[in-house]
Order: sequence, then structure tokens, then C-alpha cells
Amino acid sequence: MTLLAIETSCDETSAAVIRDGHVLSNIVSSQIRLHAEYGGVVPELATREHLRNWLPVTQAALRAALVEPAQLDAIAATQGPGLPNALMVGFKAAQALAFALRKPFLGIHHHEAHLYSPWVAGDPPAAAFAAFEPNVSLIVSGGHTMLVHVRAELDHHVLGSTLDDAAGECFDKVAKLIGLPYPGGPELDRLAAEGDPAAYDFPRPLLREANDDFSFAGLKTSVRYFLQKNSALLDNAQSIRDLCASVQAAIVETLVTKTLRAARRLGVPCVTASGGVSCNRSLREDLAAWCAREGFTLRLAAKDLCADNAAMVGILAERKLLHTGPLTDVDAEIESRWVLG
Ligand code: KG4
Ligand code: ZN
Repeated sequence: MTLLAIETSCDETSAAVIRDGHVLSNIVSSQIRLHAEYGGVVPELATREHLRNWLPVTQAALRAALVEPAQLDAIAATQGPGLPNALMVGFKAAQALAFALRKPFLGIHHHEAHLYSPWVAGDPPAAAFAAFEPNVSLIVSGGHTMLVHVRAELDHHVLGSTLDDAAGECFDKVAKLIGLPYPGGPELDRLAAEGDPAAYDFPRPLLREANDDFSFAGLKTSVRYFLQKNSALLDNAQSIRDLCASVQAAIVETLVTKTLRAARRLGVPCVTASGGVSCNRSLREDLAAWCAREGFTLRLAAKDLCADNAAMVGILAERKLLHTGPLTDVDAEIESRWVLG
């Protein structure tokens, strides 16, 4: 099966061509530089960029895959959740293509696409579902932080999620307090590499609670109060590195401890992680160390598939079509608040 997938849920315009589990192309046009000026994603600008970019990005994906539109067997697109007008661009464009080409259409849940992205591996990347094991999966990005129990392929339920800010949002907001450029997560990660994670003590939210939920708003607030009292600290480069490392340690310890606790409790053999924050060096290292110590297989999303991309949407869509799941109508609407069921 040859399938085209389009993703426009936030600030990346992406198109990918998938054939029989292989990613033939995955073009991602990021708007990071556009939004950096405003310190965050501006929905109106994102929509305009998606409108401008979806066709050239889709043409580039088809060209890179050496596939003509007539050779496509199916079309997929992210249906939700995400920024409503941004979602609408890719979703409606994909529906129009499916209608014109008379091909089956499938709307995909963005978090579900992240959830299965650790099962895409290799160079060039391909689906590795033959190695599938029941797992506890951590999805961490700028918009979402959740733990999911994946009992079997396409059979999952959410264990817990963030009660307020997502982990990536916490990285970005703390970075802004420190004065780092947007998006702060990668920059904070870079500075933390040369800092002392034990220099300052920040709260590990909900770490001792017997649930699988997260909360990062309090951590961000405690950094704000800390900086109000210790503003001189920002004049010293090493203190900034120590602060970055200390905040990162609080976030990563919370994520890793809760993920491993859920995996132990549910008796699964495997742990997976995906989403933009799963690029974080310390999170990847600590998950690897703990999983090795406790005998869990660890599958991390490949670095270029951590952030938003259409390859993960296409791989999941093809899997669903092979399991003969229901199709989506070509006149169905986006689901901007779609909850992962
Ligand atoms: O998955 P993603 O591209 O978009 C959403 O769906 O939100 O994730 C973007 C988020 C941003 O908050 C960004 O700061 C964070 O992922 N991020 C990181 C790192 N790389 C990206 N956070 C911490 N360390 C990183 N290395
Ligand atoms: Zn995402």
C-alpha cells in the first residue's frame, strides 16, 4: 500500500509517503523561526504558513518518494487535537485530495501517532511492529504529557496526564524566565549539559502521589519566585547552567520515576517515549539507565521523529487500514479537542 499523510496540528507543516511500512519520504517545514519573535506559537500566523506550505511540502514528499498522485492507495491526515485553524488546513486539503483521487481517507489522532512512533526505526525508517511488546508509553511534548498503557498494537488506554502545564511548556516557560530564546527546551537542555543538577533544589511535583498524573505549573512558579529572590544569579553564566541543570533534573526525575512505577505496577516488559521533549538528552539517558537496571526493553522515538511529523501519522494510518479499521468521511470535521480514548 502507498499512502500519503499530512500533519498540520501546530507549527510544523509536514507530508510523508509510506509504502508497506517503509517511510519513503518525510518532509517537515518548521515555523519555529517565525514564532520565535513572539516567544510562542501565534495561531493565526501558523494557519497562514500552513496554507502557504502544505502544497509545496506535499509535492516535495511525493517527489522525494518518486510517487505520482495516481499511484496513491490512501490518504491520511491529523484530525486532532491541535490548533483548530491549523488542523483544518492539512485535514481539508487531504480530504480534497482523497475525494479527487477517489481513494480511502483516514483521520488520525495526533497523540496516537506519537504513541506508536517509537515503533518506527532504522535508516531509512520503517515500522518495526514485528518486535512489538506490551508497554507503558510516555508522550511528552509542548502540548501534552501523558502515560499510556499499550496492551497490544492499537489497544491502549491513558493512565494519566498533566493536570496543568505540559513538560515541554514547563521547559519553555522556565527558559523564558531565564531569558533564553524560544523554544527554550533544546537551549535549556544544551546549557544543562555543563551545569550541576544538584545546585538548586526544585519540587518534584506529584512524585509521591499514587497516581499517573503530572503537574508542572507549580515547578515553573517556584522557579519564578526563586529568580525574584536571586536575580543576581542571572549575571553569572555558570549559575545559569546550574539552574538549567537543576530544573531539568526536577522535570526528568518526575517523568522517569512515574513512568517506571507504572511499568512495574502493570508488569509490562517494555517502556517507550515520544514527543518533542523525548529529544532531551538527560531524559533519554535516565530512561535508558533505569530500564537497563530493571530489565525493561526501552524504545525511544528516533530523534527526527520526536517532534511533529507526518511519517508517524502515515505509519499509524497504514497500520489501521491493514487492521481494516473504519474509514473517515471526506466531509468529516476536525476534532480540535479530541481526547485519546
Ligand atoms: O512534539 P513537539 O514538536 O510539539 C508539540 O506537539 O508540542 O514538542 C515541542 C516541545 C517544545 O516545548 C520544546 O521546547 C520541547 O518539545 N523540546 C525539548 C527538547 N527538544 C524539544 N525539551 C527539552 N529538551 C529538549 N532537547
Ligand atoms: Zn505533537
